[in-house]
Amino acid sequence: MTAPVLTMRLATPRLVLDAPTDDDVPDVLAACQDPATQRWVPLPSPYTRESAEFFVRSYCPHGLASRQYTVWAVRARGDGRLLGALEVRRDEHPGSASLGCWSGPWARGQGYMREALGAVARYALDPDGLGFERLNWEYVPGNEASRRLAEAAGFGFGDGIRTVVSLHGELREARVGRLSRDGVGR
Ligand SMILES: CC(C)(COP(=O)(O)OP(=O)(O)OC[C@H]1O[C@@H](n2cnc3c(N)ncnc32)[C@H](O)[C@@H]1OP(=O)(O)O)[C@@H](O)C(=O)NCCC(=O)NCCS
Repeated sequence: MTAPVLTMRLATPRLVLDAPTDDDVPDVLAACQDPATQRWVPLPSPYTRESAEFFVRSYCPHGLASRQYTVWAVRARGDGRLLGALEVRRDEHPGSASLGCWSGPWARGQGYMREALGAVARYALDPDGLGFERLNWEYVPGNEASRRLAEAAGFGFGDGIRTVVSLHGELREARVGRLSRDGVGR
């Protein structure tokens, strides 16, 4: 029998990270309807309650079942309210994964996502965790909050690596930051 695949629960001083649930649907909806989230993340538009239900009921479990990606709900310790979501997705290159995230407008500017990203990046690079050797972070120039967040977690953008991402049907040039197990930003 194959063991069930679960989202590893991670904890930081102020946060708990675990799997998104049905109770999160209203907060997922609010966060993903937010104009900044809509602007910078390739999400359905308009983003409806059905989109949020699909996210928690199908998208997140499928990532685990297929072993292609893991989505963590970022929660406040204590009341457990959803603050944001963070995804680690396996790349086509062995040992490499890409990260992405959003936070709800009610949670921004308090360092929560920095705290969450640090914990997820450590777990993703840990040989006893997800075991990746390199992590990538893509941001579209203009989204400086995304770049600062990644840099705070140690991602380096010095190599000038670029890629193309599709945002709402438009191809945009993105910059790629790197974080490796054995060094910062390499
Ligand atoms: C990018 C995004 C995830 C950043 O999330 P956030 O929740 O604001 O991030 P944080 O609160 O951890 O950090 C933001 C600021 O809070 C500051 N901060 C405040 N209190 C803090 C504390 N106690 N500890 C650490 N930092 C703190 C940080 O210094 C940081 O400042 P800076 O942006 O001037 O560098 C958020 O803006 C977002 O969801 N944007 C839309 C979606 C998006 O762009 N996603 C990324 C796509 S690549």
